Amino acid sequence: MAQGTIERPPITPLDISSVFSNVSRPIPTQAQTPQKIVATFQQVSKTYTNGCRALLDVNLHIRQGDFLFITGPSGSGKSTLLKLLYGAERPSQGNVVVDGQDLNRLRGNKLSLLRRRIGVVFQDYKLIPRRTVFENVAFVLWAQGFTRKEIHRRLIPTLKMVGLQDKAYCFPDELSGGEQQRVSIARAIVGTPPILLADEPTGNLDADNSWQVIKILKKLNAIGITIVVTTHDEQLVRQSGHPVVQLRNGRLYRQPL
Ligand SMILES: Nc1ncnc2c1ncn2[C@@H]1O[C@H](COP(=O)(O)OP(=O)(O)OP(=O)(O)O)[C@@H](O)[C@H]1O
Ligand SMILES: [Mg+2]
Repeated sequence: MAQGTIERPPITPLDISSVFSNVSRPIPTQAQTPQKIVATFQQVSKTYTNGCRALLDVNLHIRQGDFLFITGPSGSGKSTLLKLLYGAERPSQGNVVVDGQDLNRLRGNKLSLLRRRIGVVFQDYKLIPRRTVFENVAFVLWAQGFTRKEIHRRLIPTLKMVGLQDKAYCFPDELSGGEQQRVSIARAIVGTPPILLADEPTGNLDADNSWQVIKILKKLNAIGITIVVTTHDEQLVRQSGHPVVQLRNGRLYRQPL
């Protein structure tokens, strides 16, 4: 076995719900019971160091179990909003609070711990080219110190969830764009984060693959994961039937479907 690679695990099917058992499901429809707020933007503005104003006075609550779309034209601030949510950028004004913690005050270890609770799917996949699908997804668990046994327990159900159990030993360049995007979803969810952020996860995909990705996100949402997705694709948003807000020039607008 080449150095740095890992043994092929036995393919033992496992119920995905056992992997995600730490994610609390939303309480079934009790219309009056408000869900816990998992993230809040309070009068948030973001100006980058070059003077570019990316967000202006954004107020937003994201509740546990939400599936929220953020749409808006290119440059309107969608990626910036997600970056503020997972602490890759800090607001210039206002507060972003995730899981009750003000991200302005979090540094080092505490920020890393919070980030483990947030899965991120990037538009450009960011897969490691010389690693198999299995290794790309396992890497995130190795980095968090999961045991080999636990990594193997989680991997196959997660790959199954995104329909890639037969591609575990392929390299990224042996996969279609849609399959690579699904690997990036598997990598984002294998640590069972309660919040999943997806930045244009369908940006490079055709209509069929886009819908497949949305169906996977819907399944994750159904087991209790809070989902925030940015997209240009207004039709996909309408088809999915989930709430949507729109960014225009850094300002956030509620937009009824
Ligand atoms: N690191 C940065 N430094 C300076 N300006 C930035 C930086 N990142 C983004 N911007 C600017 O902030 C604005 C919002 O960018 P952002 O990437 O959030 O837009 P977006 O809505 O995600 O666009 P797209 O749909 O093209 O991905 C743009 O004007 C962009 O040029
Ligand atoms: Mg973007």
